[in-house]
Amino acid sequence: MSVSIDLTGKSAIVTGSGRGIGRETALLLAKAGACLTIADVDETTAAGVAQEIRAMGGAAAHVRTDITSAEDAKKMVRAAIDAHGRVDILVNNAARWTTKLFKDITPEEYDVDIRVTLYGTLNASRAVLDPMMEQKYGRIVNLISDAGRIGEPYLSIYSAAKGGVAAFTKALAKEVGRYSITVNGVAPGVTHTPGAQGFIDSAGGDEKLARAYPLRRLGQPIDIANAILFLASDLSSYMTGQIFSVDGGYSTPG
Ligand SMILES: NC(=O)c1ccc[n+]([C@@H]2O[C@H](COP(=O)([O-])OP(=O)(O)OC[C@H]3O[C@@H](n4cnc5c(N)ncnc54)[C@H](O)[C@@H]3O)[C@@H](O)[C@H]2O)c1
Repeated sequence: MSVSIDLTGKSAIVTGSGRGIGRETALLLAKAGACLTIADVDETTAAGVAQEIRAMGGAAAHVRTDITSAEDAKKMVRAAIDAHGRVDILVNNAARWTTKLFKDITPEEYDVDIRVTLYGTLNASRAVLDPMMEQKYGRIVNLISDAGRIGEPYLSIYSAAKGGVAAFTKALAKEVGRYSITVNGVAPGVTHTPGAQGFIDSAGGDEKLARAYPLRRLGQPIDIANAILFLASDLSSYMTGQIFSVDGGYSTPG
């Protein structure tokens, strides 16, 4: 006997899935049988990931999406429905961060970080709600961060934006539960991705950072994707408004 996760017949959108955790998540959802829409502001990487999925026998479309635009978010959902007939799963993964002390950050820098990280999540969630409510089914998984739960120096704006995403996750879960739509979050610790490499280097490198982690290693994108897969599946159908820390134990309270 075994238990498996089967997303056959489900249509999933992953924002920011041209690289990093988003890409790994898209590949894993596709391996579980879902049809994917790869949405990224970088059209070249988005097209590449969609091609990777098709090469493994899966179904995938890509759409260039700047998630800071509510209009682009609507186009992204339309593209998913045009390609796959419906949309069941949204992974709000795209984010942006500036690594600086708060006293050195400019309003222009924090405006763009908040627009991608917080507004992007709001725009995409708003755009999927109508079809999900109509079909009375949906799974929304928001990428949060330990930064948004416990605060991180040099990442104050990102901490603020992710704290907003965490509160939004809980509030939206309460609004849409009656439509069998669940809204949950995953909060990774530092994870090896192209976006995190600069932070890892500036903090002294992999081994030094890993000493603060009970499991003594930083995350890999697949560690995060596995948790997202669970929250995107029906194994989690009685969970909503919850946030999983997937961080090797880093944020475990003492
Ligand atoms: N890597 C980590 O250490 C870490 C830790 C905690 C949380 N997270 C969260 O995990 C998620 C993925 O992080 P990552 O490290 O894989 O990031 P990454 O920077 O490697 O990839 C982010 C992707 O988002 C895309 N993107 C950026 N702006 C966009 C926009 N306006 N519209 C659409 N797409 C856009 C980029 O083109 C890129 O493909 C983020 O939400 C991040 O906050 C990551």
